[in-house]
This record gives sequence, structure tokens and C-alpha cells, in this order.
Amino acid sequence: MNPNVTVVDHGEGDEPLSNPSQAPHFNDVLAANISRRGIIKGGSAAALMGFFGANSLANAVTQANQEAAPQLIGFDAIPVHEQDVVTVAEGYRVTVLTPWGQPITEDAPEFALDNSGADQAKQIGQHHDGMHFFPIEGDDPYQGSSTDGLLVMNHEYVEPRFLHASSKGQQHHRGSVMLNNNQRDADEVLKEMNAHGVSIVRVRQQEPGVWDVVMDPRNRRVTATTEMQISGPVRGSDFVKTKFSPDGTATRGTINNCAHGVTPWNTYMAAEENWAGYFVNHAERPREQARYGVRGENTGRYAWELADANNELYQRFDVTPKGANATEDYRNEANCFGWMVEIDPFNPNSTPVKRTALGRFAHEGVVFQPAVEGQPIVAYSGDDARNEYIYKYVSAQPYFKATAGGHLLDNGTLYVARFHNNGSGEWLPLVFGQGPLTPANGFHSQADVLVNTRAAADLLGATPMDRPEWGAVHPETKQVYFTLTNNTARTVENVDGANPRANNRWGQIVRWTERGDLTSKHFDWDLFIMAGPEGDSEFAGESLTEDNIFNSPDGLWIDARGLIWIQTDISESVMNTGDHAQFGNNQMLACDPINNTLKRFLVGPVGQEVTGVITTPDMRTMFVNLQHPGATTTAEDFAQGKLTSHWPDGGDAYPRSATLVITKVGPGVIGS
Ligand code: FEO
Ligand code: CA
Ligand code: CA
Repeated sequence: MNPNVTVVDHGEGDEPLSNPSQAPHFNDVLAANISRRGIIKGGSAAALMGFFGANSLANAVTQANQEAAPQLIGFDAIPVHEQDVVTVAEGYRVTVLTPWGQPITEDAPEFALDNSGADQAKQIGQHHDGMHFFPIEGDDPYQGSSTDGLLVMNHEYVEPRFLHASSKGQQHHRGSVMLNNNQRDADEVLKEMNAHGVSIVRVRQQEPGVWDVVMDPRNRRVTATTEMQISGPVRGSDFVKTKFSPDGTATRGTINNCAHGVTPWNTYMAAEENWAGYFVNHAERPREQARYGVRGENTGRYAWELADANNELYQRFDVTPKGANATEDYRNEANCFGWMVEIDPFNPNSTPVKRTALGRFAHEGVVFQPAVEGQPIVAYSGDDARNEYIYKYVSAQPYFKATAGGHLLDNGTLYVARFHNNGSGEWLPLVFGQGPLTPANGFHSQADVLVNTRAAADLLGATPMDRPEWGAVHPETKQVYFTLTNNTARTVENVDGANPRANNRWGQIVRWTERGDLTSKHFDWDLFIMAGPEGDSEFAGESLTEDNIFNSPDGLWIDARGLIWIQTDISESVMNTGDHAQFGNNQMLACDPINNTLKRFLVGPVGQEVTGVITTPDMRTMFVNLQHPGATTTAEDFAQGKLTSHWPDGGDAYPRSATLVITKVGPGVIGS
């Protein structure tokens, strides 16, 4: 081996703990000794109120549907397993579509391990995540085509060891990259950038369960290099002026796109989640970097800044000030990330737009309340890091179907959630000049508040949560469900009603109802499911059982019938080991919240997480993404070609993220 070549392990870069405040004011309102059992079983007055709150909410749902409450779930639960296969409930079948590397344009080469960076820009990206099916005709999600549509999906991050032919035979950990004389190969970096972002690809049903990619002018990749507009209050501010865009109106690329959202006007929103670690600053980091975890030493997550010293496409990931002012360097580049990005999948010439009014944090995704003519748009987004917050956006302008568009996301109020222990909650506005968000406390404009969303939310006394992941809105009750995946940084001293477990390894699902109309500043919440093993879990007053134990809920979606689909993301660092082994590989469950039924529907192959789910409008076809199969492979085993997964290709192939197509054999919709 060339002595100048080194494999550098940059760590996983996921969910850094960067909230130093721990909201001490919040601790003041807590009885420090509230235990999870106390909350659930009513061991204190505050906890008892929370428990009653939970029951009354559940009863309200049940009564509203008392006259017609058929069982939504018609399949039998399947067991957990640790095999390198996909299992699904009896009566359903599964095929594979759009694996990483699949060509989506006429001139794209077939998938091969030695595809170039340019090739990757014409192929499906790596590490599939949030996803939506846009029927090819019509903009009504419940009326359009169920056999022909645009499948749009995020690609969260990359595994360089599986991405590059040059990795073979090297001791590569999951996050490691190859340095040669302290430089990265420029084409490998380009390939990594182009494997990020979003894929837009037309897919069509040939026969039930069998779908093909269709070459279509709308097929395209949005990547870490794609030019984007910056809109909303931060547009044109000093925070986003760079050498690339001296007037602060544009930037290049989107990265670490985890979950997504679909606007009421039928566009796609890609969330920028763990973007901070891609940047490094060798000088002092301002709060808009430090509070998010921009690195202060070594390199960015994939050392992109070490490729080609003459190319700013790569250099911009080093945000150390170098020029005389911000328009001569990339000191502000990291401020151009951490946003929700709107993409119009039907217009291949459209420029993606970063909607800054929705705030800057580790956006997991965004979920919209159904739009009501003449009423404001209401949406929710979680900040997925330990002890971060849940946010709500209310547009300033009302929604009218005839004129609705992205401008509704440029002007509105962002709120952050405070969960009280008595089952009530409030939305605290992040508005410059209101409350503590003043120059005396270091805030000088609305752009400042938005670029520093986390710091502003700290000041308002928001409730630190157990890593908010996906949200979903029940189409009839308008109740909002959010997964809180886990939080091993939760201490005994800072447990609270909504986050009642110290060292929370299993996670929970919280649910709330807006008090009054959807724009209300008050809500009522309860804990819907406490995930975990039998005896340390709870759903509808009972422990989970072998039919439905799960942990680390992440993906969440509610279909048109009101069936809740729950996807899990047990970290590969603990998957299939110790107490986690009983849960097997990551899985997807279906939950009927009216009849309180919860059953395991699908279990994926080794090392992956199940993330991203949508059906066609007729609910006869379901698409599900499986991300990072084989991620549990150790560096030593990788060097010897001993991988924990070869899914989906089998043999000795490298594993590939891919989309599952699930259909029911015989009549009925998915889940019945
Ligand atoms: Fe990318 Fe929070 O999962
Ligand atoms: Ca996720
Ligand atoms: Ca996750």
C-alpha cells in the first residue's frame, strides 16, 4: 500500500449533541423525580393529569368514529428476524425498484462500481430516504393515476466504501474516506456529491407489482452541486452572502436530505438534516455554526474540501474566513444549509428554492395540515438531534387553491413547542423584537432569528425533545403524531412528561391536537406509544407483545384510511446486539389508532433502516425505501469482502439501498 494513502475514519456525523442550554428554565417547572412510570401510571398530580389527558383524547377519537370503526388491519403480524431478506405479511408480495445506480436518463450508463462522478448525476442516488409518488396526471393525491407517476425520493448520505471501486480491499469503516497525500480524489468527491440530493424519476406499472423506470424529460437529479435560490426573510441578508452569490440570493446544492414533505400545491420539500458536519472551520466558529455542530478541527464529514484546491465547488466546505470579506470567500456557506428545499417535480427546468421562513436546524422533514380554502397554511417540522425541538409554521397569507404556491412559505410565523407536564402545550413565536428576541439578547433581525433558530428557541424556553423525527397528520381528526426516536443523553434530572425516560434507548410517539383552530397557539398532547421490549413499553394501556415490539421509531405516515405506518431506525452501532437483538432487523408496523391495533407488517434485511413510505392513490401499491443495508459490516470484514448484507442483488454484490414495491395478492387495499 502506498504510504501516502490513508483511510480516515471521520465518524458517522449523525445527530451531534450540540444543545448546551438544556433549557434550565424548563427544569424549574419539573419535579426532578418524575419517572416514566409516574407519568404513565399517574404517580403524581401532574402525571395523573397527563394520563387522563391521554385517555380523553383517545376517547374523543374513538367516539368520533364509533358508528363506523371497521378494523383497518386485515393481515397477521410477522415475527422479527435477523436474516438478509425482506419479509412481509402473508398475502402480500414484494419486488425491488430503483436501486442506487439505476439509470434515469437515456444517456446514463448502466450501474457499475466504477461509474464516474458525472455518471452518478444521471443515476438514482445512494441511501434512499423520504419519498412521494406524484400521479402523472392531476394534482389530487387521492384521485390521480395509480399506475403512472413521478417517484421522488431523498438520498440522505453516502457510504464511500460501497460507492467507490477503489475502496475494495481497504479497511473501511462506514464513514471513512481515502486520503492520498492529504487530498481527496476529485472525481470520487463529485460522485459522493452527486449521490446525495433528490431523484425524480417516472415509474409505470406493467402489471400489479411490476413497475419500470420510464425515460421522461422530467427525470432528473438534484444534488449537492445543483444551483438553488434562497427565499424568505434570510434572502439577501449578510448571513448568506458568499463569493458565489455576493447578493445572498443563491447557493449550490442540498445535502443530507432525510425526510420530506408534500405541499398542498403538489410540490416536494426535501429536508436538510445532518448538514453541519460536512463543514469545517479552522478559525473561531460563530454561534450559527457552533450551535449546529459545524466541525472545528480536522476535516468535514467526507473531507470534500480536500479535493482540488482550485475548485470552489469543493473548497466551499471549508468555511474558515480567507478573504477580506464574506463576498470573497465561503465563511457563510454553512448558513446556506439547514433549510427546507422546495422542488417542483413537474418542471425539470425549475430551480429548487430554500424556504428560510421555516427555520434553520436539523430538519427531519415537514408535514402539512390539509389546506383549507381561505385559511393559513399550517406545517410542522422536527429538529432531529438530542434535546432539540419541534416547530410549527403558520403562513401570513391565506391559502386559495387557485393562487397557492411557494410564496406561502416565505411569509409567516415560526413557532416552537413547549410541552407542559399536565398534557397542555403552547406554541412560542420566533419573531424578532418579541419576547427575548431583541438586540439586548443578541438578535438583530428576523434573518438573525431564522439563521439561529436553535439559539432563539433556547431563549424562548422550548422543550428539549428525544430527537424528533417524522410527523404525520391524521386526515380526519387533524391530530398530529411525531416520532421521538430515542435519546441516550436524556438524564434523570431532565425527564419530563413528553420525554419521560432517562437514557431513552427505545423512543416514543407523541400526539397532539390543536386547541381550537389549526393556527392555535395552544395544544393538548399525550403519549401515543412508548416503544420498547415487552414489559418496558406501552400502547393503549398494555405492554407491546411479540407481534409488535419495536424501538427507535423514525419514519411515520398516515394513509387515507387513517392507518398509521411506523418505520424503525435502530442504529447500526447497536443493531442485532445485546438488548436490541430481540427487535431483529429494522421493520415497519401498521397501527389502527381507533381500534388500538398494532401489527408488524415488514422486516428488512441486515444493517438497513426502513424509511420512506407512500402508496398510489388507489392504495393498491405501496413504495417503501430500505436505506444502508450492510451498514453493520466492520472495517476488518469489509477488507476481506465479508459483508453483512448483499441485498438486493445477492451473490457477492455490494448491498444497495432500493425501493420496495408491495402489492396485495387478491382484492383489497394495502394493510387490509
Ligand atoms: Fe435522518 Fe433523523 O433521521
Ligand atoms: Ca430519519
Ligand atoms: Ca433516524
